[in-house]
Amino acid sequence: MTPPTDAATDRTPLIAGNWKMNLDHVQGPALLSELARTLSEIKHDPSRVEVTVFPAFTALGAIQSLVQSGGLDVNYGGQDLSPFDSGAYTGDISAQFLASLGCTYVLVGHSERRTIHYETDDVLNAKVKAAYRHGLTPVLCVGEGLDIRQAGAHIEHTLTQLRANVAGLTPEQAAGLVVAYEPVWAIGTGEVAGPEEAQEMCAAIRAELSTIFGTTIAVKARLLYGGSVKASNAAAILKEADVDGALVGGASLDATEFAGIAAFEGQTPSGGPV
Ligand code: PGA
Repeated sequence: MTPPTDAATDRTPLIAGNWKMNLDHVQGPALLSELARTLSEIKHDPSRVEVTVFPAFTALGAIQSLVQSGGLDVNYGGQDLSPFDSGAYTGDISAQFLASLGCTYVLVGHSERRTIHYETDDVLNAKVKAAYRHGLTPVLCVGEGLDIRQAGAHIEHTLTQLRANVAGLTPEQAAGLVVAYEPVWAIGTGEVAGPEEAQEMCAAIRAELSTIFGTTIAVKARLLYGGSVKASNAAAILKEADVDGALVGGASLDATEFAGIAAFEGQTPSGGPV
């Protein structure tokens, strides 16, 4: 069942910057200061488009201080979390630690975690639930590799990840969920999925959420596209009905470029000013 598209207007677009393993506790706040300055220069309205960044764990304390002392209208979150709350899990970071640093969001299941750290769908389901236990909103990343896309199995593959990762959530939790569709072949490669491909998958994800949790829940969840998003291609992707934002890697490390993505509403689909 496809949810009505007019409800799309109720979803605040989310532009999220995944800094990955870049920028330490000095460099991260420096970039965030520059970003806040740039957003203010272009008269960015945070009530229209929400901006969030995902710094490295070691930078989160400094980011919290900067956001609080500067009164910045930017949210932030962790790039990963433990499925457990506390205990003998050397090297892990709990959702509680992220919440106490003022995080709003946490990335779960980025393809680099799925591939390099062999994170399974069961573990990711436990991480999603751990995030909710401590008041964090998971940004759940799903998406297919090139071989799966070429075999034409991308929708079933991505929905299989989704179903496993959201199993057991309450409808209220599902309504607040953010899902990022990130085709692995488009991450850091310069290859961007076309707006139609992004819309096709986001519509399929919303329909699946509707099947699991009901339409009134599915129309509330925000769906992002991620993979080589830049200021020049953001507007075309974000105008699609079921695409509610972008998860941005490389381009989020440049304040002007990232602010340009957040300003997508004032861009033509080809990237120029309206
Ligand atoms: P990219 O990364 O924008 O550099 O392709 C996106 C991501 O990995 O979240």
